[in-house]
Order: sequence, then C-alpha cells, then structure tokens
Amino acid sequence: TWTTGNVIEEQVAAIREQVGSKRAICGLSGGVDSAVAAALVQKAIGSQLTCVYVDHGLMRKGETEQVEKDFVAATGVQLKVVDAQERFLNALAGVSDPETKRKIIGREFIRVFEQAQAEIVAEAGAGGEDVAFLVQGTLYPDVVESGGGTGTANIKSHHNVGGLPEDLEFELVEPLRQLFKDEVRMVGQELGLPEEIVQRQPFPGPGLGIRIVGEVTKERLDLLREADAIAREELTAAGLDREIWQCPVVLLADVRSVGVQGDGRTYGHPIVLRPVSSEDAMTADWSRLPYDVLGKISTRITNEVDEVNRVVLDITSKPPGTIEWE
Ligand code: XMP
Repeated sequence: TWTTGNVIEEQVAAIREQVGSKRAICGLSGGVDSAVAAALVQKAIGSQLTCVYVDHGLMRKGETEQVEKDFVAATGVQLKVVDAQERFLNALAGVSDPETKRKIIGREFIRVFEQAQAEIVAEAGAGGEDVAFLVQGTLYPDVVESGGGTGTANIKSHHNVGGLPEDLEFELVEPLRQLFKDEVRMVGQELGLPEEIVQRQPFPGPGLGIRIVGEVTKERLDLLREADAIAREELTAAGLDREIWQCPVVLLADVRSVGVQGDGRTYGHPIVLRPVSSEDAMTADWSRLPYDVLGKISTRITNEVDEVNRVVLDITSKPPGTIEWE
C-alpha cells in the first residue's frame, strides 16, 4: 500500500544505493519539487549533498530570499548561491521562440551547475571527483508530458526533462519521478518541511522567462515581477491560495493597446491573469475568481506597474490551452 512513510523509506534506500559514498548536487528552484527532492536526498546521504541555487534573474519577487533563509533554516542543508543573472539575460537576448527559450534556460542551468560542481570539487580537495550526481525534482507528469514516460506526444520541453543537453556530465537522481504533486506535498510534510514551502503553488523552472511572450529583457522581467507580486498579494489576502492551483501572470511584451490615464493617451502592454484549478496539472480548469478580487488586481497592476495599461483574464481550460503560455 502507498504511504508517504513507505515512499520515503524506499527512496532513501534507492538513493543510498545509487549514490554510495559519492557526492551529489541539487539545484533548488524555490519550488516544492526541488525542495522535497533535496530534503529526501539529504535524509539519505546527509552532508554528501550540496544544494545549489541559481539566481537566473527569472525568479519572482522575494523568492531568492525565501530559499536562502527558510529552506536552509528548515533543513540545515549546505547551500551555494550563484548569481547568474547576466549570463541568462545574455543567453536569452533576441530570443522569442518558446521552445528555444526553454532549451537555452535548461542548457544554461546545467552549465552553471557544472561550474558550481567544479567549485565544489575544488573546495573538496582530494576526492572531489566523487561529486558525480545531480538531483532533480522531476515529477511523473513532467516525465509524461516531455514524452519520456508512456510515449505520449511531446508537448513542451520541461527544462528538467526534455531540455537537458546531451553532453550532461552528471548522473541524475530523480526520487520524485513516480509521484504527483499532491503526493510530493505529503512527502515534504512528512519530512518536516515548513508549510510555506510544502504548500507553495507550482512555479516552472524556467520561471518568468516563459511568462514573457516575446523577448526576455531585464526591464520586462522587472515589470512582470511587480505585476506578479501584486496578483499574488491580492490572491493571498483574499484567502484563495489553496483554492487555486497556481496563477501564472503573463506579459504580452510584443502586444500594445491604446489606453487613457489621467488626461493622457497611453500605448502599453497587456498583462494576462491565468488562474487555474487542477489536481495534477495534466488537465486544468480556469478558476472562477470573485470579481472584486479580479478588480482589485487589475486596478493595482495598471496603477502601479509602468507600461501596463490593460489586464485580461484567461478563461481557457487545459486542454486546449496549457497552463503556461509558453
Ligand atoms: P503546462 O504549461 O504544460 O504546465 O500546462 C503544467 C505544469 O508544469 C509547470 N511547468 C513547469 N515546471 N519546469 C517545471 O518544473 C518547466 O519547464 C515547466 N513548464 C511548465 C506549470 O507551471 C504547470 O504547473
């Protein structure tokens, strides 16, 4: 029978068997999946694990701080933070195609890990060559939707499955590969991770990079980060966090529309709100959010975020729309 206790026990044994006395690196994204994967691997191999947090500049507001403080406090894990904002921005410059963006972000992630690995190896001195494993929080739906599981058609290259480069230097450890999100949350809870981490809504590895329809630039990221923070703040204030699965906030960077603010004409960008309800992200329905909450979000975003003069609501279920726009 399936219990979180059994899953933990099985996975801990499997991880010990796979990694042996070598060492592993785990990328933390700030999301539930990588946090639970890291906590599970830490339970299995303790100080043989080093977590790496890549600040790619595609994070939401406050996310980096949450990883640096809350996760470390909860697990006592060894953490290395890499500031790679410039690098990701340079790599993404001029790119608008969604799959190309995903592949670039996945590739840069791995490159940064390799660099972090080299540093961790150097710090380890003799025996550094034992740093040979990369932990990933890949879930069952990621495997299926990237075409790696049951042979289903490839829908998107989730950066932690289909987007990996072929010259990968690490062996992968994927302890959540058979689990769905709700199960991952239960495992995280059982492992003693704090509520704020375990109950976090999903956020994609490529971050805000795939929520800007068009080229990713620093200015656009800052703008989207503000809009996203406002939406999250209001949804939380309205007590809707648990009710909705997640609410991507998307910037249509290549679209402009005419508006009026004060006595002036504006020609700004639309922001899309994409609140969805779901069990496992394989299918989803658009969330029927209260109009007053939507109204507040719209007023605040258009007032507080430069260059945005329109807020629109995505009322498409999945299928036919995916949850993310890219
Ligand atoms: P889609 O857009 O395919 O999203 O309906 C399904 C779920 O997966 C999340 N998502 C990702 N998660 N890496 C991730 O770790 C990714 O590349 C990625 N792309 C989408 C999305 O937020 C939703 O919860």
